[in-house]
Amino acid sequence: MSERESNGATARPPLRPLTLAVPKGRILKVLAPLLRQAGISADCLLTEDRRLVRESDDGSMRFLLLKPDDVPTYVEYGSADLGVVGRDTLLERNYELYQPVDLRVGVCRMVVAAPVGAAIPSVPRVATKYPRIAQKHFASRGIQAEVIYVQGSVELGPVTGLSDLIVDLVETGTTLRENGLEEREVICPISSLLVANRSLFKLHHERIAPLVDGLRNAADSAAS
Ligand code: PRP
Repeated sequence: MSERESNGATARPPLRPLTLAVPKGRILKVLAPLLRQAGISADCLLTEDRRLVRESDDGSMRFLLLKPDDVPTYVEYGSADLGVVGRDTLLERNYELYQPVDLRVGVCRMVVAAPVGAAIPSVPRVATKYPRIAQKHFASRGIQAEVIYVQGSVELGPVTGLSDLIVDLVETGTTLRENGLEEREVICPISSLLVANRSLFKLHHERIAPLVDGLRNAADSAAS
């Protein structure tokens, strides 16, 4: 049977699952209940194994488990229809993505921090994983800063004399406190957003739109 089935109806290929790229790690524990509330069975995200591709029970959704910074890349190139990305990543780099929903999970803030009580030189050295955000922030304050890129454990910058300040994410404040640092300024609030590939969003609008609405409603009710 090729184009037509025996009763004359046009044969439809099975729908491919929609693909959602998600960041590996602790955010999955809050993301899975939000997806569940939006009608997406996402228990497969909570199992402790090393599979990087997982499927919802009904086969309608496929999840890609990625390093957080890689999520927008997979969505932009269309390897995923949708993704969950921190606003920090979106602010740091330029992506051509729709950003239909602030999921309001992974809530934290981007801050400038310094050793407790330390005086800061007029041209400070700033260690950060976010050079663009840091550069823009200090430029907007009319401060000429020397921004030093590091990949992690940013708090070590001032502790070791690499830098005077850091620009980094703070959630509970524990990491700052335990390394003798204090917040000096909040640059912006951060949370995770749902992003979508622009072409695929239009192409599969009938399937993606209800999912986006479901996640928006779930995020709204979780926040209220
Ligand atoms: C993040 C961030 C801070 C810490 C903040 O680091 O860069 O270091 O979490 O959390 P807290 O305010 O609750 O202590 P992450 O754990 O991602 O590791 P990293 O230092 O290797 O980037």
